[in-house]
Amino acid sequence: MDSIRIVGGKPLEGKIYISGAKNAALPLLAASLLTDETLTLGNVPHLADITTMANLLSQHGVNISLNGEQKLGGTGRVMELKASNVSNVTAPYDLVRKMRASILVLGPLLARCGQAKVSLPGGCAIGTRPVDLHISALENLGATISIDNGYINANAPNGLRGAEIVFPVVTVTGTENIMMAAALAKGQTTIVNAAREPEVVDLANCLVAMGARIEGIGSDRLRITGCDRLHGATHSVIPDRIETGTFAMAAAITDGDVELIGAKMEHLNSVARVLSKAGVSVTETKHGLQVCRVNGLHGVDVMTEPYPSFPTDLQAQFMALMTVAEGASMITETIFENRFMHVPELQRMGANITVHNASAMVRGVAHLNGAPVMATDLRASVSLALAGLAAKGETILNRIYHLDRGYERLEEKLAACGATIERIRAAA
Ligand code: EPZ
Repeated sequence: MDSIRIVGGKPLEGKIYISGAKNAALPLLAASLLTDETLTLGNVPHLADITTMANLLSQHGVNISLNGEQKLGGTGRVMELKASNVSNVTAPYDLVRKMRASILVLGPLLARCGQAKVSLPGGCAIGTRPVDLHISALENLGATISIDNGYINANAPNGLRGAEIVFPVVTVTGTENIMMAAALAKGQTTIVNAAREPEVVDLANCLVAMGARIEGIGSDRLRITGCDRLHGATHSVIPDRIETGTFAMAAAITDGDVELIGAKMEHLNSVARVLSKAGVSVTETKHGLQVCRVNGLHGVDVMTEPYPSFPTDLQAQFMALMTVAEGASMITETIFENRFMHVPELQRMGANITVHNASAMVRGVAHLNGAPVMATDLRASVSLALAGLAAKGETILNRIYHLDRGYERLEEKLAACGATIERIRAAA
């Protein structure tokens, strides 16, 4: 397995181009199942998870072509998807277990074909990650669903019918699955307590471009009036706000000064507010966001909550930043039950962190020390990379396949800003 070697202590200076959002691109790819016409997506990031989703869709019968040149703005690739016919309604375990977001084919398959057989995704490092809310919502839309041998067997031979769906907790992919299913259901569906993440809004905007009728986009109450069919469309993936926040914290932890090209402040207001309190300036430029420290770093308390509050996907990165801030920071994780696996690795680098249940008390230290560390999940792994950029000495980050799932060419982007960072290829 590849690893990444970092020698810390270099302030990041220069520009970083922000890629298209992974968590917008994944549902957008799945939406191709909803029509027999071509869905053209621009600014698609080049990530392992995108490849996994493309492979999954291909085995459903979706024809996918990639053309390198970028016609639609942004830095990503243009992907054309055409599901003329869906030849297979089964999403197999060996693909689904690689990426939980595979659950996003469940709603579209059911809506388009009246049936779907999707492997239960199973848990992952950060939690049990149930999909019970997806299942109960689809049953409300008229599907008959059973769980057999680890697979969700869903049937709606007479099609889906609109209903009122009330989510007891905000679920991002749950909202996305139901929005896609409801777009082809008979009648009206209301989703109460819908997720408001920019990635959900991006999917809704693309579905509208495909002919769907959706009201309340961006609010926690969505009203979808089903259509008989959807048509093709052209849509560009929004920039990745989590990548933006990650590189903003990389600039801050190294006391650097970086322009994040393509980043949108509107998606990061809660993060910018927290960073400002921590002594980090985030200002809009003509091409994106400029990030640098104002003076020193100060400890700030943070609680992760659904959008528009502070995102759970930036919790680990913010914790790395707080390990070298002046004072203390109480970080509370309210979304997932096991999202502190970066803590023991940061402690090995000299961080002073105490965990009590869902809260971590971080007391700033003068500096971290480089060490060999282990990545456990996507965001924990990048948090260790940030710590390595600031630490004295060498850090070796192992199991970086986690990183490749969500960050496009991370070491190249950081090296271009002066970091001493390289990928060490495992012996074949
Ligand atoms: C999405 O996951 C993201 N993934 C996650 O990003 C992100 O951390 C998460 O939303 C929260 O923002 C994608 O968009 C592909 P949820 P999702 O359903 O949809 C509980 C990353 O690093 N829940 O919003 O799976 C669940 O256990 C990934 O890019 C149920 O109980 O998350 C959690 O406590 C990690 N039953 C809470 O809801 C369900 O049926 C929120 O989960 C569904 C969810």
